[in-house]
Amino acid sequence: MDALRQTALDARARAHAPFSHFLVGAAVETVDGRIFGGCNVENSSYGLTMCAERTAIFRAVSEGAKRFTRIAVVADTEKLTPPCGACRQVLWDLCGDLEIILFNLQGASESFRLADLLPRAFDATFLD
Ligand code: THU
Repeated sequence: MDALRQTALDARARAHAPFSHFLVGAAVETVDGRIFGGCNVENSSYGLTMCAERTAIFRAVSEGAKRFTRIAVVADTEKLTPPCGACRQVLWDLCGDLEIILFNLQGASESFRLADLLPRAFDATFLD
């Protein structure tokens, strides 16, 4: 297992999901090889819940990271868990056409490009 996946797995172990019990881990890699993990953090008001992917990317940005290569996402599902729509939009804004690696606890894995998961995305270029 590479460091990116291991970091996502370690983050998943720290997921705070007392309502859904659905534990997710993510890890984002920068162009200079730094890795930042994140887990989902749920809230009793539900809507304030933060997904693992956004926790990871917000952690990275808050540490000064600006350019990214890959994100790995792990959950305990046979059908691999993809980023939700909100996370796709946030990742597009901050990372562009990122490689997204989904995997599960059984070792199944599949890679996607964010541009394929979020076609015709809205972004800052429309605000010019
Ligand atoms: N969740 C994530 O963290 N990432 C995903 O890709 C899908 C969903 C979280 C949000 C919530 O805490 C729980 O999984 C159930 O939706």
